[in-house]
Amino acid sequence: MSKIRLGVLGGGGDSLIGVLHRVASSMYDRYEIVGGVFNPVHEENIEFAKQIGVNTDRVYEDFDTLIAEEIRKPKDERIEVVSVLTPNFLHFPMAKKLLENGFHVICEKPLTTSHNEAKELEALQKKHKAIFAVTYTYTGYPMVRHMKHMIAQGELGKIQKIDIQYYQGWINPVIHDPEVRKKVWRLDPKKAGISSCIGDIGTHAFQMTEYLTGMEVKYILSDLNTLYEDNSLDLDGTVLVRFSDTFKGIIRASQIATGEENGLTVAIYGQKGAYRWEQENPNYLYHLKDDEPRRVIKPGNAYTSDVSLDGTKLPGGHPEGIFDAMGNIYKGVAKALRNEKSFEGEYPNMNDGVRGMLFIEKVVESHKKGNIWLSLDNQ
Ligand SMILES: NC(=O)c1ccc[n+]([C@@H]2O[C@H](COP(=O)([O-])OP(=O)(O)OC[C@H]3O[C@@H](n4cnc5c(N)ncnc54)[C@H](O)[C@@H]3O)[C@@H](O)[C@H]2O)c1
Repeated sequence: MSKIRLGVLGGGGDSLIGVLHRVASSMYDRYEIVGGVFNPVHEENIEFAKQIGVNTDRVYEDFDTLIAEEIRKPKDERIEVVSVLTPNFLHFPMAKKLLENGFHVICEKPLTTSHNEAKELEALQKKHKAIFAVTYTYTGYPMVRHMKHMIAQGELGKIQKIDIQYYQGWINPVIHDPEVRKKVWRLDPKKAGISSCIGDIGTHAFQMTEYLTGMEVKYILSDLNTLYEDNSLDLDGTVLVRFSDTFKGIIRASQIATGEENGLTVAIYGQKGAYRWEQENPNYLYHLKDDEPRRVIKPGNAYTSDVSLDGTKLPGGHPEGIFDAMGNIYKGVAKALRNEKSFEGEYPNMNDGVRGMLFIEKVVESHKKGNIWLSLDNQ
Protein backbone atom coordinates (compact mmCIF):
# COMPACT_ATOMS: atom_id res chain seq x y z
CA MET A 1 0.00 0.00 0.00
CA SER A 2 1.36 3.45 -0.87
CA LYS A 3 2.45 5.63 2.01
CA ILE A 4 0.49 8.72 2.99
CA ARG A 5 2.26 11.85 1.70
CA LEU A 6 2.77 14.07 4.74
CA GLY A 7 3.78 17.75 4.80
CA VAL A 8 5.06 19.49 7.91
CA LEU A 9 4.76 23.16 8.93
CA GLY A 10 7.04 24.17 11.80
CA GLY A 11 8.68 21.47 13.88
CA GLY A 12 12.19 22.47 12.78
CA GLY A 13 15.40 21.43 14.50
CA ASP A 14 14.95 24.24 17.02
CA SER A 15 11.46 23.10 18.06
CA LEU A 16 10.22 21.11 21.00
CA ILE A 17 7.49 19.08 19.35
CA GLY A 18 8.84 18.40 15.84
CA VAL A 19 10.75 15.25 16.71
CA LEU A 20 7.71 13.73 18.40
CA HIS A 21 5.63 14.10 15.23
CA ARG A 22 8.40 12.86 12.95
CA VAL A 23 9.02 9.73 14.97
CA ALA A 24 5.28 9.16 15.48
CA SER A 25 4.54 9.45 11.76
CA SER A 26 7.17 6.84 10.92
CA MET A 27 6.17 4.40 13.65
CA TYR A 28 3.69 2.22 11.80
CA ASP A 29 5.25 2.74 8.32
CA ARG A 30 2.14 4.56 7.13
CA TYR A 31 3.52 8.02 6.24
CA GLU A 32 6.36 9.58 4.32
CA ILE A 33 7.36 13.20 4.97
CA VAL A 34 7.60 14.58 1.45
CA GLY A 35 7.94 18.31 2.10
CA GLY A 36 7.09 21.31 4.22
CA VAL A 37 8.30 24.52 5.80
CA PHE A 38 10.11 23.59 8.98
CA ASN A 39 11.40 27.01 9.77
CA PRO A 40 10.76 30.62 8.63
CA VAL A 41 14.46 31.17 7.78
CA HIS A 42 14.86 29.41 4.45
CA GLU A 43 18.56 28.49 4.76
CA GLU A 44 17.87 26.83 8.11
CA ASN A 45 14.81 25.20 6.60
CA ILE A 46 16.85 23.61 3.79
CA GLU A 47 19.67 22.65 6.12
CA PHE A 48 17.25 20.88 8.42
CA ALA A 49 15.53 19.07 5.53
CA LYS A 50 18.92 17.72 4.40
CA GLN A 51 19.68 16.63 7.93
CA ILE A 52 16.49 14.56 8.19
CA GLY A 53 16.61 13.30 4.59
CA VAL A 54 13.66 15.16 3.08
CA ASN A 55 13.94 16.06 -0.63
CA THR A 56 14.67 19.82 -0.66
CA ASP A 57 12.69 20.30 -3.93
CA ARG A 58 9.55 20.26 -1.84
CA VAL A 59 10.84 22.30 1.08
CA TYR A 60 9.34 25.69 0.42
CA GLU A 61 10.26 29.26 1.28
CA ASP A 62 6.99 29.79 3.14
CA PHE A 63 3.54 28.40 3.71
CA ASP A 64 1.82 30.24 0.82
CA THR A 65 4.40 28.87 -1.62
CA LEU A 66 3.81 25.36 -0.30
CA ILE A 67 0.10 25.60 -1.09
CA ALA A 68 0.64 27.22 -4.50
CA GLU A 69 3.22 24.64 -5.61
CA GLU A 70 1.54 21.57 -4.17
CA ILE A 71 -1.88 22.20 -5.73
CA ARG A 72 -0.20 22.34 -9.15
CA LYS A 73 0.96 18.74 -8.76
CA PRO A 74 -1.16 15.78 -9.90
CA LYS A 75 -3.40 14.50 -7.08
CA ASP A 76 -1.49 11.24 -6.69
CA GLU A 77 1.77 13.13 -6.02
CA ARG A 78 0.41 16.01 -3.95
CA ILE A 79 0.84 16.23 -0.17
CA GLU A 80 -2.30 14.62 1.32
CA VAL A 81 -2.16 15.72 4.93
CA VAL A 82 -0.22 18.49 6.64
CA SER A 83 0.94 18.61 10.27
CA VAL A 84 0.77 22.13 11.71
CA LEU A 85 3.40 22.38 14.46
CA THR A 86 3.98 26.12 14.61
CA PRO A 87 3.30 28.46 17.56
CA ASN A 88 -0.42 28.87 18.32
CA PHE A 89 -1.20 32.08 16.37
CA LEU A 90 -0.24 30.40 13.07
CA HIS A 91 -2.55 27.39 13.49
CA PHE A 92 -5.67 29.22 12.27
CA PRO A 93 -4.35 30.89 9.08
CA MET A 94 -2.47 27.75 8.12
CA ALA A 95 -5.28 25.27 8.83
CA LYS A 96 -7.83 27.54 7.13
CA LYS A 97 -5.90 27.77 3.89
CA LEU A 98 -5.06 24.07 3.95
CA LEU A 99 -8.73 23.14 4.29
CA GLU A 100 -9.77 25.59 1.57
CA ASN A 101 -7.28 23.94 -0.78
CA GLY A 102 -8.33 20.37 -0.15
CA PHE A 103 -5.68 19.14 2.30
CA HIS A 104 -6.33 17.06 5.41
CA VAL A 105 -4.84 18.46 8.61
CA ILE A 106 -3.15 17.26 11.78
CA CYS A 107 -2.94 20.34 14.03
CA GLU A 108 -1.26 20.93 17.35
CA LYS A 109 -3.30 22.20 20.26
CA PRO A 110 -4.64 24.69 21.14
CA LEU A 111 -6.50 24.59 17.83
CA THR A 112 -6.56 28.40 17.34
CA THR A 113 -6.36 31.54 19.45
CA SER A 114 -10.14 32.05 19.73
CA HIS A 115 -13.36 30.06 19.80
CA ASN A 116 -14.67 31.98 16.78
CA GLU A 117 -11.68 30.94 14.70
CA ALA A 118 -12.18 27.35 15.84
CA LYS A 119 -15.84 27.43 14.76
CA GLU A 120 -14.77 28.79 11.37
CA LEU A 121 -12.36 25.88 10.92
CA GLU A 122 -15.10 23.46 11.96
CA ALA A 123 -17.42 24.82 9.26
CA LEU A 124 -14.66 24.58 6.66
CA GLN A 125 -13.81 21.03 7.67
CA LYS A 126 -17.45 19.99 7.24
CA LYS A 127 -17.70 21.78 3.89
CA HIS A 128 -14.57 20.11 2.51
CA LYS A 129 -15.18 16.74 4.24
CA ALA A 130 -11.60 16.79 5.50
CA ILE A 131 -9.97 14.60 8.12
CA PHE A 132 -8.84 16.89 10.94
CA ALA A 133 -6.93 15.75 14.03
CA VAL A 134 -5.94 17.90 17.01
CA THR A 135 -2.98 16.29 18.73
CA TYR A 136 -3.99 15.96 22.35
CA THR A 137 -1.10 13.52 22.67
CA TYR A 138 -2.04 11.85 25.93
CA THR A 139 -5.15 10.23 24.46
CA GLY A 140 -2.78 7.97 22.50
CA TYR A 141 -1.57 6.06 25.57
CA PRO A 142 -2.92 2.50 25.70
CA MET A 143 -3.88 2.86 29.37
CA VAL A 144 -5.82 6.07 28.69
CA ARG A 145 -7.69 4.32 25.87
CA HIS A 146 -8.33 1.38 28.15
CA MET A 147 -9.74 3.67 30.84
CA LYS A 148 -12.06 5.33 28.33
CA HIS A 149 -13.26 1.97 27.04
CA MET A 150 -13.86 0.49 30.51
CA ILE A 151 -15.65 3.62 31.77
CA ALA A 152 -17.98 3.38 28.75
CA GLN A 153 -18.58 -0.30 29.65
CA GLY A 154 -19.73 0.82 33.12
CA GLU A 155 -16.69 -0.52 35.03
CA LEU A 156 -16.76 2.43 37.47
CA GLY A 157 -20.54 2.74 37.65
CA LYS A 158 -21.99 6.22 37.76
CA ILE A 159 -19.14 8.76 37.78
CA GLN A 160 -19.27 11.21 40.69
CA LYS A 161 -15.90 13.00 40.82
CA ILE A 162 -12.96 13.81 38.54
CA ASP A 163 -9.67 15.40 39.57
CA ILE A 164 -7.18 16.15 36.81
CA GLN A 165 -3.95 17.88 37.57
CA TYR A 166 -1.34 19.11 35.09
CA TYR A 167 1.65 20.62 36.87
CA GLN A 168 4.83 21.91 35.24
CA GLY A 169 7.48 24.20 36.71
CA TRP A 170 9.42 25.41 33.68
CA ILE A 171 8.16 29.02 33.78
CA ASN A 172 9.40 29.59 37.32
CA PRO A 173 13.03 30.17 36.24
CA VAL A 174 11.99 32.65 33.52
CA ILE A 175 9.05 34.59 34.95
CA HIS A 176 10.86 36.57 37.63
CA ASP A 177 13.14 38.37 35.14
CA PRO A 178 11.17 40.73 32.81
CA GLU A 179 13.89 40.58 30.14
CA VAL A 180 14.06 36.78 30.11
CA ARG A 181 10.30 36.37 30.10
CA LYS A 182 9.97 38.63 27.01
CA LYS A 183 11.71 35.95 24.93
CA VAL A 184 9.13 33.22 25.67
CA TRP A 185 6.42 33.06 22.97
CA ARG A 186 4.04 31.24 25.29
CA LEU A 187 3.90 34.44 27.41
CA ASP A 188 3.29 36.72 24.42
CA PRO A 189 -0.46 37.25 23.78
CA LYS A 190 0.24 37.92 20.08
CA LYS A 191 1.69 34.45 19.67
CA ALA A 192 0.07 32.35 22.40
CA GLY A 193 -3.46 33.82 22.49
CA ILE A 194 -5.35 34.87 25.62
CA SER A 195 -3.83 32.30 27.97
CA SER A 196 -0.52 30.67 28.76
CA CYS A 197 -1.10 27.93 31.31
CA ILE A 198 -4.72 27.07 30.55
CA GLY A 199 -4.16 27.36 26.79
CA ASP A 200 -1.03 25.27 26.81
CA ILE A 201 -1.71 22.53 29.34
CA GLY A 202 -5.07 23.19 31.05
CA THR A 203 -6.60 22.40 27.68
CA HIS A 204 -5.00 18.92 27.75
CA ALA A 205 -6.55 18.32 31.18
CA PHE A 206 -9.95 19.54 30.03
CA GLN A 207 -9.89 17.40 26.89
CA MET A 208 -8.93 14.40 29.03
CA THR A 209 -12.01 14.89 31.26
CA GLU A 210 -14.36 14.82 28.27
CA TYR A 211 -12.39 12.10 26.42
CA LEU A 212 -12.47 9.70 29.36
CA THR A 213 -16.04 10.24 30.43
CA GLY A 214 -17.61 10.70 27.00
CA MET A 215 -19.54 13.55 28.63
CA GLU A 216 -19.42 17.32 28.23
CA VAL A 217 -18.54 19.73 31.03
CA LYS A 218 -21.57 21.98 31.50
CA TYR A 219 -20.24 24.74 33.80
CA ILE A 220 -16.86 26.05 34.95
CA LEU A 221 -15.57 28.49 37.56
CA SER A 222 -11.92 29.53 37.53
CA ASP A 223 -9.25 31.30 39.52
CA LEU A 224 -6.04 32.22 37.68
CA ASN A 225 -2.65 33.60 38.69
CA THR A 226 -0.38 35.79 36.53
CA LEU A 227 2.13 36.49 39.38
CA TYR A 228 3.09 39.94 38.01
CA GLU A 229 0.90 42.85 36.91
CA ASP A 230 2.94 43.40 33.77
CA ASN A 231 2.50 39.74 32.78
CA SER A 232 -0.93 39.47 31.16
CA LEU A 233 -1.21 35.70 30.71
CA ASP A 234 -2.04 33.14 33.38
CA LEU A 235 0.71 30.88 34.71
CA ASP A 236 -1.48 28.83 37.00
CA GLY A 237 -5.15 28.06 37.31
CA THR A 238 -7.70 26.13 39.30
CA VAL A 239 -10.98 25.35 37.58
CA LEU A 240 -14.06 23.80 39.14
CA VAL A 241 -15.99 21.78 36.59
CA ARG A 242 -19.57 20.58 36.76
CA PHE A 243 -20.97 17.89 34.48
CA SER A 244 -24.25 17.61 36.41
CA ASP A 245 -25.62 18.16 39.91
CA THR A 246 -24.08 14.86 40.99
CA PHE A 247 -20.90 14.74 38.91
CA LYS A 248 -18.41 17.49 39.64
CA GLY A 249 -14.66 17.89 39.64
CA ILE A 250 -11.55 19.99 39.45
CA ILE A 251 -8.89 20.80 36.89
CA ARG A 252 -5.63 22.13 38.29
CA ALA A 253 -2.90 23.38 35.97
CA SER A 254 0.34 25.20 36.63
CA GLN A 255 3.54 26.25 34.89
CA ILE A 256 4.99 27.62 38.13
CA ALA A 257 4.76 24.45 40.21
CA THR A 258 8.45 24.67 40.97
CA GLY A 259 10.42 21.55 40.11
CA GLU A 260 7.53 19.73 38.49
CA GLU A 261 8.23 18.31 35.02
CA ASN A 262 5.23 17.06 33.05
CA GLY A 263 2.96 15.97 35.87
CA LEU A 264 -0.36 15.17 34.28
CA THR A 265 -2.35 12.99 36.66
CA VAL A 266 -5.86 11.66 36.40
CA ALA A 267 -8.19 10.47 39.14
CA ILE A 268 -11.74 9.51 38.27
CA TYR A 269 -14.15 8.16 40.86
CA GLY A 270 -17.40 6.29 40.26
CA GLN A 271 -19.93 4.52 42.45
CA LYS A 272 -18.31 1.10 41.78
CA GLY A 273 -14.65 2.03 41.58
CA ALA A 274 -11.98 4.47 40.47
CA TYR A 275 -9.01 4.84 38.14
CA ARG A 276 -5.75 6.65 38.82
CA TRP A 277 -3.13 7.25 36.13
CA GLU A 278 0.02 9.38 35.81
CA GLN A 279 1.56 10.54 32.54
CA GLU A 280 5.08 10.28 33.90
CA ASN A 281 4.47 6.62 34.65
CA PRO A 282 2.04 5.78 31.84
CA ASN A 283 2.20 1.99 31.81
CA TYR A 284 0.61 1.62 35.24
CA LEU A 285 -3.12 2.11 35.56
CA TYR A 286 -4.54 1.72 39.06
CA HIS A 287 -8.03 0.37 39.58
CA LEU A 288 -9.43 1.14 43.04
CA LYS A 289 -12.46 -0.42 44.72
CA ASP A 290 -14.12 -0.37 48.12
CA ASP A 291 -12.70 -3.03 50.46
CA GLU A 292 -10.30 -4.57 47.93
CA PRO A 293 -6.59 -4.14 47.34
CA ARG A 294 -5.94 -1.87 44.36
CA ARG A 295 -5.13 -3.60 41.05
CA VAL A 296 -2.44 -2.60 38.59
CA ILE A 297 -3.38 -2.85 34.92
CA LYS A 298 -0.55 -2.85 32.38
CA PRO A 299 -0.52 -2.57 28.58
CA GLY A 300 0.24 -5.39 26.17
CA ASN A 301 -1.65 -8.01 28.20
CA ALA A 302 -4.51 -10.02 26.75
CA TYR A 303 -6.77 -8.93 29.62
CA THR A 304 -6.77 -5.33 28.35
CA SER A 305 -9.28 -3.95 25.84
CA ASP A 306 -8.84 -4.34 22.07
CA VAL A 307 -8.38 -0.59 21.62
CA SER A 308 -5.54 -0.65 24.15
CA LEU A 309 -3.91 -3.70 22.52
CA ASP A 310 -4.15 -2.08 19.09
CA GLY A 311 -1.93 0.71 20.41
CA THR A 312 0.71 -1.57 21.92
CA LYS A 313 3.47 -2.89 19.69
CA LEU A 314 5.27 -5.27 22.04
CA PRO A 315 4.17 -7.78 24.68
CA GLY A 316 3.63 -6.57 28.25
CA GLY A 317 6.70 -5.42 30.17
CA HIS A 318 8.32 -3.56 27.26
CA PRO A 319 7.67 0.04 28.28
CA GLU A 320 6.27 2.34 25.60
CA GLY A 321 5.89 6.08 26.09
CA ILE A 322 5.04 9.48 24.66
CA PHE A 323 6.40 8.74 21.17
CA ASP A 324 4.20 5.65 21.00
CA ALA A 325 1.17 7.64 22.21
CA MET A 326 1.59 10.15 19.38
CA GLY A 327 2.28 7.23 17.01
CA ASN A 328 -1.13 5.83 17.90
CA ILE A 329 -2.79 9.13 17.02
CA TYR A 330 -1.03 9.16 13.63
CA LYS A 331 -2.13 5.54 13.16
CA GLY A 332 -5.74 6.56 13.86
CA VAL A 333 -5.50 9.35 11.28
CA ALA A 334 -3.97 6.95 8.75
CA LYS A 335 -6.93 4.59 9.20
CA ALA A 336 -9.34 7.47 8.63
CA LEU A 337 -7.47 8.66 5.53
CA ARG A 338 -7.56 5.16 4.06
CA ASN A 339 -11.16 4.44 5.11
CA GLU A 340 -10.16 1.57 7.39
CA LYS A 341 -12.12 0.29 10.35
CA SER A 342 -11.08 1.96 13.59
CA PHE A 343 -11.97 2.21 17.26
CA GLU A 344 -13.82 5.18 18.71
CA GLY A 345 -11.54 8.01 19.79
CA GLU A 346 -8.43 6.85 17.92
CA TYR A 347 -7.53 10.43 17.21
CA PRO A 348 -8.75 13.63 18.90
CA ASN A 349 -10.77 15.57 16.36
CA MET A 350 -12.14 18.98 15.43
CA ASN A 351 -14.76 18.81 18.19
CA ASP A 352 -12.01 18.34 20.80
CA GLY A 353 -10.23 21.38 19.36
CA VAL A 354 -13.36 23.57 19.34
CA ARG A 355 -14.36 22.53 22.88
CA GLY A 356 -10.78 23.26 23.98
CA MET A 357 -11.01 26.83 22.68
CA LEU A 358 -14.39 27.36 24.34
CA PHE A 359 -12.89 26.13 27.61
CA ILE A 360 -9.91 28.51 27.40
CA GLU A 361 -12.10 31.52 26.65
CA LYS A 362 -14.60 30.76 29.40
CA VAL A 363 -11.89 30.10 31.99
CA VAL A 364 -10.28 33.47 31.29
CA GLU A 365 -13.71 35.17 31.32
CA SER A 366 -14.75 33.52 34.59
CA HIS A 367 -11.57 34.73 36.29
CA LYS A 368 -11.85 38.28 34.91
CA LYS A 369 -15.48 38.58 35.98
CA GLY A 370 -14.61 37.77 39.59
CA ASN A 371 -14.58 33.94 39.57
CA ILE A 372 -18.11 33.27 38.46
CA TRP A 373 -19.79 30.16 37.10
CA LEU A 374 -20.14 30.17 33.30
CA SER A 375 -21.94 27.80 30.98
CA LEU A 376 -19.90 25.70 28.55
CA ASP A 377 -22.80 24.63 26.42
CA ASN A 378 -21.78 24.57 22.76
CA GLN A 379 -22.44 28.00 21.30
N1 LIG B 1 0.65 17.98 22.08
C1 LIG B 1 1.53 18.35 22.99
O1 LIG B 1 1.65 17.71 24.02
C2 LIG B 1 2.39 19.56 22.75
C3 LIG B 1 3.61 19.71 23.40
C4 LIG B 1 4.40 20.83 23.07
C5 LIG B 1 3.94 21.78 22.17
N2 LIG B 1 2.71 21.62 21.59
C6 LIG B 1 2.19 22.63 20.64
O2 LIG B 1 2.99 22.59 19.47
C7 LIG B 1 3.10 23.89 18.92
C8 LIG B 1 4.59 24.21 18.78
O3 LIG B 1 5.18 24.19 20.06
P1 LIG B 1 6.76 24.03 20.26
O4 LIG B 1 6.98 23.95 21.72
O5 LIG B 1 7.28 22.95 19.38
O6 LIG B 1 7.25 25.45 19.71
P2 LIG B 1 8.72 25.84 19.35
O7 LIG B 1 8.81 27.31 19.49
O8 LIG B 1 9.70 24.98 20.07
O9 LIG B 1 8.83 25.46 17.78
C9 LIG B 1 8.08 26.12 16.80
C10 LIG B 1 8.61 25.76 15.41
O10 LIG B 1 7.83 26.43 14.42
C11 LIG B 1 8.72 27.06 13.50
N3 LIG B 1 8.05 28.21 12.88
C12 LIG B 1 7.73 29.40 13.45
N4 LIG B 1 7.13 30.20 12.54
C13 LIG B 1 7.02 29.48 11.39
C14 LIG B 1 6.49 29.74 10.09
N5 LIG B 1 5.94 30.93 9.80
N6 LIG B 1 6.60 28.76 9.17
C15 LIG B 1 7.17 27.59 9.43
N7 LIG B 1 7.71 27.29 10.64
C16 LIG B 1 7.63 28.21 11.61
C17 LIG B 1 9.94 27.44 14.33
O11 LIG B 1 11.07 27.66 13.52
C18 LIG B 1 10.06 26.17 15.19
O12 LIG B 1 10.74 25.16 14.46
C19 LIG B 1 2.37 24.83 19.87
O13 LIG B 1 1.10 25.12 19.37
C20 LIG B 1 2.25 24.04 21.16
O14 LIG B 1 1.10 24.35 21.92
C21 LIG B 1 1.94 20.53 21.86
